[in-house]
Amino acid sequence: MTDRELMSIAKEASKNAYAPYSKFQVGAALECEDGTVFTGCNVENAALGSTICAERTACCKAVSEGHRKYTRIAIYGESKGYCMPCGSCRQFLAEFSPEMEVLCSRADGRYVSYKLSELLPHTFDY
Ligand code: THU
Repeated sequence: MTDRELMSIAKEASKNAYAPYSKFQVGAALECEDGTVFTGCNVENAALGSTICAERTACCKAVSEGHRKYTRIAIYGESKGYCMPCGSCRQFLAEFSPEMEVLCSRADGRYVSYKLSELLPHTFDY
């Protein structure tokens, strides 16, 4: 699958976002080592701190289905700048695949790509 195809799955997933508070819809498409793709969207809550980001939704879906090794994640949000994963999502994904690729899009469809270890060097571990 191409990066663009993975990103279009993320864009589709963003349509399911539950974001009545921020009105900012995010979608993620997480590709596993065996090629399986899990999608996620942000799920907000009136208790704002209970909100779950799109990336963590996708990761929890994958882990709960027995998938722990990832190659890429595409993140789509209609932001002016590139929609980058928040710090919690970086740490969350790094738990499983610190060397995975992270594709971050913006509203016009352009995207940038990083290694997760570039975005979060020296992850917490013990
Ligand atoms: N959000 C994500 O889904 N992923 C991120 O990495 C950053 C932020 C969501 C959370 C919240 O619903 C909205 O974007 C605004 O912060």
